[in-house]
Amino acid sequence: MGVFVSSDGIEAAGHEQVVFCQDRHTGLKAIISIYSTALGPALGGTRFYPYESEEAAVTDALNLSRGMAYKNALAGLDLGGGKAVIWGDPALDKSEALLRAYGRFVESLNGRYYTACDVGTYVPDMDVIARETRYVTGRSVEHGGAGDSSVLTAWGVFQGMRAAAEHTWGRPTLSGRRVGIAGLGKVGKYLAGHLIEDGAAVVATDVSPAAQEWARTTHPQIDLVDDAQALITSDLDVYAPCALGGALNDDTVAVLRAKIVTGAANNQLAHPGIEKLLEERGILYTPDYVVNAGGVIQVADEIEGFNFERAKLRATKIFDTTGQILRLADDDGVPPAVAADRLAERRMAEVGRLRSIYLG
Ligand SMILES: NC(=O)c1ccc[n+]([C@@H]2O[C@H](COP(=O)([O-])OP(=O)(O)OC[C@H]3O[C@@H](n4cnc5c(N)ncnc54)[C@H](O)[C@@H]3O)[C@@H](O)[C@H]2O)c1
Repeated sequence: MGVFVSSDGIEAAGHEQVVFCQDRHTGLKAIISIYSTALGPALGGTRFYPYESEEAAVTDALNLSRGMAYKNALAGLDLGGGKAVIWGDPALDKSEALLRAYGRFVESLNGRYYTACDVGTYVPDMDVIARETRYVTGRSVEHGGAGDSSVLTAWGVFQGMRAAAEHTWGRPTLSGRRVGIAGLGKVGKYLAGHLIEDGAAVVATDVSPAAQEWARTTHPQIDLVDDAQALITSDLDVYAPCALGGALNDDTVAVLRAKIVTGAANNQLAHPGIEKLLEERGILYTPDYVVNAGGVIQVADEIEGFNFERAKLRATKIFDTTGQILRLADDDGVPPAVAADRLAERRMAEVGRLRSIYLG
């Protein structure tokens, strides 16, 4: 590949290692980015995406791997943060040989980086990659994998929402509250189930007719509204963005009526500064990467040999972590997004420093 990140660029971003991988025969062009191994091997998925340019691919890998370091740190995992991107169109370029070539590059890092699924890569792809490397999670159940990670993602989001409810209303329950879910996909569906069981009234929207049909037949008590705009302007106690990123922007925050925002979607804040806007409007925002960590907790558990109950216990701790972040935010007088970053940085520094104790 022709373009390299300048050493200035890496230094400014703070990453440990960025690896460019190429195999001309299969057409593989991949970038593996390791932000930090302070807490252990870097874990993060492989995104297969037709980026407009190599610069866009590099930028995505750098940003995503940094995000994984913070997410894994706050999830209490002994894992650092990494992410990989394969530059190409998964519909056209994905092949057994390309995935296996990629697997050999992952193997060459000797366990500094564990991969998993992300946009454009799926569980069967991880099984193919695993034919060339030991450092893969997100595998199929028949290969000892955890299966669908949305189960514990939804469970963790529910725990984060309970913590926010306790912080706001004094009780860790959504009972009697009106919760609006944008996106009844893999995560949103499970979340709706937990909320209904807890006694919440659920309002929801989804662009997919199949998801709407699922709601009508499985939970007829869900109040379906036309679109996200109708959802956020309705009388909500909690808003749960569970579709795409960027749900919280200047326009949506200005009209949002909920007191709490807790959802599964990645990168909910459309741009820096939105967290302050939310605070000014008296809306409590639980950082997305804290509450949606159930999925990474689930796949990380595969490294020890997957045990659902153990993973669920760890995902349940998202309740405690969210509460801790909200209290720290109050104490420090900063938005929860800033408090979460501080807590993650503290764990990376304090636990990472222990490696300096010589073991003989
Ligand atoms: N699945 C996981 O384990 C996991 C883990 C962490 C984060 N996340 C994030 O959570 C979000 C949901 O993940 P998922 O696995 O449920 O995805 P999904 O694709 O199964 O579900 C997304 C749903 O949102 C709907 N949707 C899309 N655009 C919409 C719009 N404008 N208005 C209303 N609905 C819309 C889609 O029709 C779909 O039903 C994503 O942002 C994902 O990155 C997922």
